[in-house]
Amino acid sequence: MGDWRTYQKNLLPDIPNFHKIEVYEKEGKGYQALRAVLTDPKWDRKTVVNEVKDANIRGRGGAGFNAGLKWSFMPPKQEGLPRYLACNGDESEPGTCKDRRLFEYNPHTIIEGAIIACYAMEMDAAYIYIRGEYADWIDIMQNALDEAYAKGYAGKNIMGSGVDIGVYLHKGAGAYICGEETSLMESLEGKRPYPRSKPPFPAQVGLWGKPTTINNVETLGHVPYVIRNGSEWYKSIGAANQPGPMLYGISGHVNRPGVYEFPSGMLITDLIYTVAGGIKGGKKLKAVVPGGSSVPVLTAEMIEGITMDADSLRTRGTLLGTAGMCVLDETTDMVKFLLRVSKFYDHESCGQCTPCREGTGWLVKILKKIDSGQGTMRDLDMLISLCDNMEGKTVCALADAAAWPVRNTLTRFRSEFEAKVKQSTFAMAR
Ligand SMILES: Cc1cc2nc3c(=O)[nH]c(=O)nc-3n(C[C@H](O)[C@H](O)[C@H](O)COP(=O)(O)O)c2cc1C
Ligand code: SF4
Repeated sequence: MGDWRTYQKNLLPDIPNFHKIEVYEKEGKGYQALRAVLTDPKWDRKTVVNEVKDANIRGRGGAGFNAGLKWSFMPPKQEGLPRYLACNGDESEPGTCKDRRLFEYNPHTIIEGAIIACYAMEMDAAYIYIRGEYADWIDIMQNALDEAYAKGYAGKNIMGSGVDIGVYLHKGAGAYICGEETSLMESLEGKRPYPRSKPPFPAQVGLWGKPTTINNVETLGHVPYVIRNGSEWYKSIGAANQPGPMLYGISGHVNRPGVYEFPSGMLITDLIYTVAGGIKGGKKLKAVVPGGSSVPVLTAEMIEGITMDADSLRTRGTLLGTAGMCVLDETTDMVKFLLRVSKFYDHESCGQCTPCREGTGWLVKILKKIDSGQGTMRDLDMLISLCDNMEGKTVCALADAAAWPVRNTLTRFRSEFEAKVKQSTFAMAR
């Protein structure tokens, strides 16, 4: 991957006022990729899809699916039938704040990427769904969109090419579930955001029943760089099977928390000890949650030699998720940590499926019982049994996201849970 210390940043370059269109165009070669695909005959729609597929941009919303391959699932265009792109910027998973940085610092790459995606998939409009709490960044994003319209880079007859693509910003209202792709579409349609059962998949029946593709905003933000520099350039950066620049969010007990752009596949130890300046107060590391609160936790011993890409993380039974890493020091009470995470998922369950609605509530009740010194050994088995009855048994993956941290934290830090139970007044009960 080359030396990450000399890596030249792409999505978050250190250029003042990069969110302004004239700076993006002058200093960042902004909108050159869009101009190329709309005016250079070399870039017919299929070629754009193939280039993105070949670059292997793995979706940055958590699942890591090849973006170009997803685009290729759109059915052939039917005359008179509109089709849509939904750009997912709901970003509500605890530990994840990288999209916020793009909204703030490089909003035009999201807009340019979205319009290129619409062109490639013959779509009529893109809806950028942005987390409602991001008040300041909503303003930046809206200004960027107004600038793009004013220059004729969005809307009717873009750059004189005869291509019409509308781009609209939509504010969420503070629900994590709206980040789930089918729930996001319900929300955009103005309905209660209950996730939909799949199939049918969005490419067949999406927004307002029309063919739709949903991509994370960062995924789309990579597209102009791929078109400008080529898929080979993109693949030369970072991990072989998950290439390209990556926005790492590092939070928790580190000296320099933040969002950092580096090649994918960075060693976790380099990110914690060099990039983020090590553990606060010189304390020891206890655990790392590598990709947002739902992915399985790693113990300090497990991170040695592990890199931030799906293949490497899989060897330790965890996932890259959103690359939003949460670092926990030796003073962390893992029961309290898990209780806090579980409260989040309980609060955010939409309540549509019984295993999720009831299961998330029971996880919290039992964890509270253990934490308050009233737990029994049987409660530990009950937690695992609840996970068994939640994982893979619901309409959307929120139930899995709630169950995985419980199963893994309990398994990997079992002695801490047992110690709390042994101190409890109920310890002898069964
Ligand atoms: C409960 C839940 C919440 C989600 N929240 C987000 C989110 O905030 N942003 C996001 O991009 N993807 C989120 N996802 C994943 C989306 O459903 C979808 O996979 C993603 O937007 C696809 O984009 P990508 O292929 O570019 O990664 C969430 C999934 C679930 C189950
Ligand atoms: S799994 Fe949970 S959040 Fe997802 S649809 Fe079912 S109840 Fe709603």
